[in-house]
Amino acid sequence: MTAKSTPELLYLDLLKRILTRTGFVTYQLPITRGWRRKLYGPAKAVLKARGFQLVRRVDPEMRRIGGDWPSDAETMVGMVRLDNVQECVLDVFANKVPGDFIETGVWRGGTSIFMTGAMKAFGETGRVMWVADSFKGLPKPKEGDHPTDTGDPLHKFQDLAVPLETVKDNFRRYDLLNDQVRFLPGWFEDTLAKAPVEKLAILRLDGDMYSSTMVALEALYPKLSVGGYVIVDDYSALESCKQAVDDFRAKNSIEDPVKQVDWAAVYWQRSS
Ligand SMILES: C[S@@+](CC[C@H](N)C(=O)[O-])C[C@H]1O[C@@H](n2cnc3c(N)ncnc32)[C@H](O)[C@@H]1O
Repeated sequence: MTAKSTPELLYLDLLKRILTRTGFVTYQLPITRGWRRKLYGPAKAVLKARGFQLVRRVDPEMRRIGGDWPSDAETMVGMVRLDNVQECVLDVFANKVPGDFIETGVWRGGTSIFMTGAMKAFGETGRVMWVADSFKGLPKPKEGDHPTDTGDPLHKFQDLAVPLETVKDNFRRYDLLNDQVRFLPGWFEDTLAKAPVEKLAILRLDGDMYSSTMVALEALYPKLSVGGYVIVDDYSALESCKQAVDDFRAKNSIEDPVKQVDWAAVYWQRSS
């Protein structure tokens, strides 16, 4: 058995493939807007009733790079970003970096499910997986928010509003809804600062907006252990997210090098 094919790593590899539906044949909702979107639901029902097969092979490249909003996968982040999560998590295990894991912005829960699976596979029973989300989508930008959030349309996307019960069901689907998983439902500004989180080893930010990213950094970065990781899902994809991270790092004189994961995500390891 090679180092890459231990049962634990094989389990993580399989988890990633299923959570992203890499290589699956599945019905895939195209990202459409306007009249196409309005027609799509009724058209789908008619075609299905007439026996048409509404399936197509998921483009493995899109799933690899997290380039689409999958119709049924539990995460949209793609294989490359899950590989990065795995790398950080295994480093934290190997070096016994103390603390829990948190993801702020979980959508259907897939990336948090993956981290919970890693805890289970490696017998890391002393850590909590904190799962933070409104479970009703992104907030509407309000007066006084940072200019990069002005006019942000993401709050209008119903596809981004996944109820808590659905996310719990997704954890159950993988037999990973255990007592190490704790949910923080609500807007980040109401939940994160007062959450009973003491220490973190992984802080994964996926709230897209300036406000959602900044609130999470301010509440949680002080709790991150030295040797722990910050992962920012949308740094290179969304100007609002990048600006919040750059502002926070400048204000707190953080000079740990920011490393690129793929076209969207970055991460750094806390050194002091
Ligand atoms: C892009 S999705 C997260 C994708 C997810 N990490 C995955 O693995 O597929 C963004 C999520 O952030 C949540 N969100 C964004 N801003 C928020 C806020 N201020 N408070 C609570 N939830 C927020 C949304 O509800 C949504 O579920």
